Amino acid sequence: MKTLHVELSEDGQNGDRNYPIYIGQGLLTQPKLIEPYVEGTQVLIVSNDVVAPLYLDKVKKTFSAYDVKIVILPDGEQYKNLEVLNTIFDALLDAKFDRTCTLVALGGGVVGDMTGFAAASYQRGVNFIQIPTTLLAQVDSSVGGKTGVNHPKGKNMIGAFHQPLCVIADSDTLNTLEDNQLSAGIAEVIKYGLIRDMDFTKWLEKNMHKLLARDAEALSYAIEVSCRCKAKIVAEDEKEKGVRALLNLGHTFGHAIETSAGYGNWLHGEAVATGMLMAADLSMRIGNLSQKDVERVDNLLDMAMLPTRAPHHMDYDHYMELMAIDKKTRAGKINLILFKKLGDAMLTNDFDQNLLHETIDAHRAIDGK
Ligand SMILES: NC(=O)c1ccc[n+]([C@@H]2O[C@H](COP(=O)([O-])OP(=O)(O)OC[C@H]3O[C@@H](n4cnc5c(N)ncnc54)[C@H](O)[C@@H]3O)[C@@H](O)[C@H]2O)c1
Ligand SMILES: [Zn+2]
Repeated sequence: MKTLHVELSEDGQNGDRNYPIYIGQGLLTQPKLIEPYVEGTQVLIVSNDVVAPLYLDKVKKTFSAYDVKIVILPDGEQYKNLEVLNTIFDALLDAKFDRTCTLVALGGGVVGDMTGFAAASYQRGVNFIQIPTTLLAQVDSSVGGKTGVNHPKGKNMIGAFHQPLCVIADSDTLNTLEDNQLSAGIAEVIKYGLIRDMDFTKWLEKNMHKLLARDAEALSYAIEVSCRCKAKIVAEDEKEKGVRALLNLGHTFGHAIETSAGYGNWLHGEAVATGMLMAADLSMRIGNLSQKDVERVDNLLDMAMLPTRAPHHMDYDHYMELMAIDKKTRAGKINLILFKKLGDAMLTNDFDQNLLHETIDAHRAIDGK
């Protein structure tokens, strides 16, 4: 097992907020791992109807020393909303859970984001443990403290920052993941390399087949490097005033694709993959990347079985409308994460809109994903 530490500055209220990420195999069944993080006796495990049949029994046993209640959410991004969130509050209130209770998220990013937001807001904030079971959740959404739900007018528009007490990333859980979900997680892994780690990008180019074959050692290594990268960036900039924005490489385009296609039709990581290639393409048009660099990004995404063309119906005006609501848009100017060079990203709004138009036209699929 590997242990990484997310080092956060003290915020004056909560004192020491550093927390560990445990990465390895067989971690779901180790009560000793979670013991230090459960304050009282009340534990609410939140999962969904796909993950619960696979792993809930194991996790329940691990928490058997406590008074455990369970909430099973319906599976899917389309249920990441305030109405479904309320069922978690209903369960907490029905069980009369107090401020010492601990919420445990067992599932992918949807369960993690919703449970985290419930933990952030129930009685103004209670304890929270993340047990991410998708690659995307293990390398991205479980690290960094962003929690929330979608609004019909925009993804993740309602939320809060709330850090977990610990994260338990058991790579064994990835063996039951659908292939396209694994690839979607790899999109975020590729992102870390592209924004600031060329060595890791080269490692991915050599080892992509191992990740797709679910080689435990390769997966653990990729999870570790990714979490370390994210933890470092979050430590530098917890509230996204600067460097943390780089983690949004491909995400402004990606969120537009997800929203336009309807939640659930494009996986988050798939949309981000297409968005990253669009960012690379625009970076080439402004003179920062070569054609060869862009092909390299395209090939890496291709190796990971990820889509790189957006739905054909998405034209320039459509993107502009959808990107205007993006959190990175300030004072009407669209901020994008582009490349200074490969392995080195930057936040900028200093580009010719005509070039953005060309990029969008170049990435409309002829016949779907
Ligand atoms: N908080 C953040 O910083 C952050 C960062 C990135 C993404 N996100 C959010 O994360 C969400 C995407 O997360 P996701 O990709 O994990 O999606 P998800 O939670 O929908 O999980 C994907 C699918 O895999 C299933 N699943 C989960 N674990 C499984 C397992 N071990 N075996 C078999 N099936 C399993 C799920 O039930 C679901 O059907 C989005 O809502 C996105 O906004 C948040
Ligand atoms: Zn993402």
